[in-house]
Amino acid sequence: MKSRYSYKETFESGQKVAWQVEDIIGGEKRLDFRRPFLPESLARVDSMDFLSAEEKLLLNQIRGYGYLYTFGLVEEFILPFDLDSARPHLSGDDYRTRALLRFAGEEAKHIQLFKQFAAEFQRGFGSTCNTIGPPEEIARAVLSHHRPTAHVSCATWEDADAFSPL
Ligand SMILES: [Fe+2]
Repeated sequence: MKSRYSYKETFESGQKVAWQVEDIIGGEKRLDFRRPFLPESLARVDSMDFLSAEEKLLLNQIRGYGYLYTFGLVEEFILPFDLDSARPHLSGDDYRTRALLRFAGEEAKHIQLFKQFAAEFQRGFGSTCNTIGPPEEIARAVLSHHRPTAHVSCATWEDADAFSPL
């Protein structure tokens, strides 16, 4: 099967959308806890008539944090999976090498972004939201599985990541 894209095109497209974590969070860029963190289509709290408006806002933010944390958690195993997958292909085509390493670099950036959002949430929310983890142990467990299983898991999450509202 022939791809519609070349590594050169992929690498060059990646160059055009080079954003930095600092452009999004940190410094003066803070979470606004007066506002919901997820669109209603994802949070699905409006129909919960037993909650006050303030409780719906809190639940929206908790769900936002869960969404954020889950993506960050998954990135922890996508990055080593990407690197392991790239390793046999790091010679022979300079654009392929650069595109694969750039992709891994973007994943590392996503991990940092999710961690900074999580830290910001934990600082400002006022209550602890427990999560599964630690992420490194989950990554180790996922990557210990049969390689095609890990591949499907990584590919599924990367597709979801590409369409996330973050
Ligand atoms: Fe990612």
